[in-house]
Parts: sequence; C-alpha cells; structure tokens
Amino acid sequence: MGTDDESIRVVGILGAGRVGLVLARLAVNAGYRVLVAGSGDPARIAAPVATLGPAATAVQASVVAREADAVVLALPLPRYRDLPVEALRGTLVIDAMNYWWEVDGLRDDLADLRTSTSETVRGFLAGSRVVKAFNHMGYRDLEDEARPSGAPGRKAIAIAGDDAADLAVVAGLVDAFGFDPVIAGPLAEGIKLEPGAEAFGADVDADQLRAMLDRFPASQRGRMVARARRIRPDAAG
Ligand SMILES: NC(=O)c1ccc[n+]([C@@H]2O[C@H](COP(=O)([O-])OP(=O)(O)OC[C@H]3O[C@@H](n4cnc5c(N)ncnc54)[C@H](OP(=O)(O)O)[C@@H]3O)[C@@H](O)[C@H]2O)c1
Repeated sequence: MGTDDESIRVVGILGAGRVGLVLARLAVNAGYRVLVAGSGDPARIAAPVATLGPAATAVQASVVAREADAVVLALPLPRYRDLPVEALRGTLVIDAMNYWWEVDGLRDDLADLRTSTSETVRGFLAGSRVVKAFNHMGYRDLEDEARPSGAPGRKAIAIAGDDAADLAVVAGLVDAFGFDPVIAGPLAEGIKLEPGAEAFGADVDADQLRAMLDRFPASQRGRMVARARRIRPDAAG
C-alpha cells in the first residue's frame, strides 16, 4: 500500500499481543521496516514476529524506542508507566491502548472523564508527540478490513491529537495501513473513541464514523463527559 511520507521509515510496536502483531503485519504490508517488542526478552516473541517476514524484527523495548521513527503503543494501558520515557522523548507515539476495566481492573486514574486516557499517557511521556489511533477497531477487523486507498467500502480509523503536522503523519500511516483516516479532534477528544463511546468498536466507513463522533455530545457518555468537564454538551465539540 505504501505512503509518500518519508519521515517514517521504521515503525516500532510496543506490545506483541493481539493488536500489536496485527498492526506490525499491516506496517510490513505497507512497506515499512518494523521493530516489535514485548515486555521482556525478544526471544519470547521471535516466533510470531518471524511469521511477518524479514522486514520485521523482535527487539527489546528500548531498541524500539531508540530506533523507530514512530512507535505504536499496543500494551495493556495499566502498564504505561513501564514505557521508556527518556528514549521516547521527541518521538511520535501512537496510542492504540484502551482502559478496559473488566481486564485491567478498576483504576480511578484511568477512569477520570475529565481526561482522555491518551492525555494521561502523554502526561507520563514527557516530550513525546502523542497521537491516538488504531484503538477503536478490534484486532480481527483491523486484520480483515485493510484495503488499498480508494477501494469501495474501505473502513475508517479515527485519530486524535494536538499537533497538525503529527496528525498528518499519522493520517498517512492509517492510509498506508489500509484505512481512511478521520480526524476526531485534539487529544482531549480522544475520549470519543474510548470504551463507552459509540465509536469504540466501530468497523465502519469514514462517513459513518464521522456521524458517530458528531453524535457523541448528545450521547449518554458524551453528557457524562461534559458534566465531568463542566462544559455544556453542545460545546463539547
Ligand atoms: N485486542 C483488540 O482487539 C484491541 C484493539 C485495539 C486496541 N487494543 C488495545 O491494545 C492494547 C493491547 O491489547 P491486546 O489485546 O493486544 O493485548 P494482549 O494480547 O494481552 O497483548 C499485550 C502485549 O503487551 C505486552 N506488554 C506488556 N507490558 C509491556 C511493556 N511494558 N512493554 C512492551 N510490551 C508489553 C505483552 O507482553 P507479555 O506477554 O510479555 O507481558 C503482550 O505481548 C490494550 O490497551 C487494548 O485495549 C486492543
């Protein structure tokens, strides 16, 4: 599929589980060199990474952080404090993580509706350029639905971030991976993509995804978020 954006040549993936390995495969298919790390010894993930072909390599997380031009976070969200902050300073970091309380356990810091979970991650990753993407679609859909640009019925992935240039780069990656990018707004509005929002789980085209995002302020979740942020629902964006 490929992309014209030459700023990204090496894609890093932190988390070699269900979604991490699917995103690694999409990155390989798009023509990137891909570095993948789990929580420990790269030998533990060598077998699944080898199935991705010679463009993908299993490495330590510190190597991903040091060498990749963009790093996708595909580890359990409660583990975000394990991330190598210094090595990721200045790096474009793509947050695909969700707070899934049934699995992750109850965490007041991650359940606070005043703050999107991607803002919490950015607060920890001092100096990283954090954009949220690839979190709302299930890993099987990500694997099955990737299509070349312009293919009829192509599905969409929403992205949220504060920097226009970084959003443009991630939009290019989303397109290269096989999906139409839809800008959801600043990182604070990444909450529109989190569990509890209509767009979470969405496997739909760009028009349908935009409509879901537009409905968020009037939804029960949107009203809860607005109340928590003490702004009127019609001003929630
Ligand atoms: N599953 C989906 O369909 C889906 C879709 C979109 C987004 N997400 C989000 O993506 C994240 C991962 O979900 P998943 O379903 O892929 O989970 P998973 O299958 O349990 O995989 C998690 C992976 O993260 C690794 N990991 C744990 N701590 C790490 C660390 N400090 N550094 C690097 N890797 C680490 C684990 O390695 P070890 O086994 O060595 O601990 C494991 O390989 C979650 O936040 C989830 O909400 C999931």
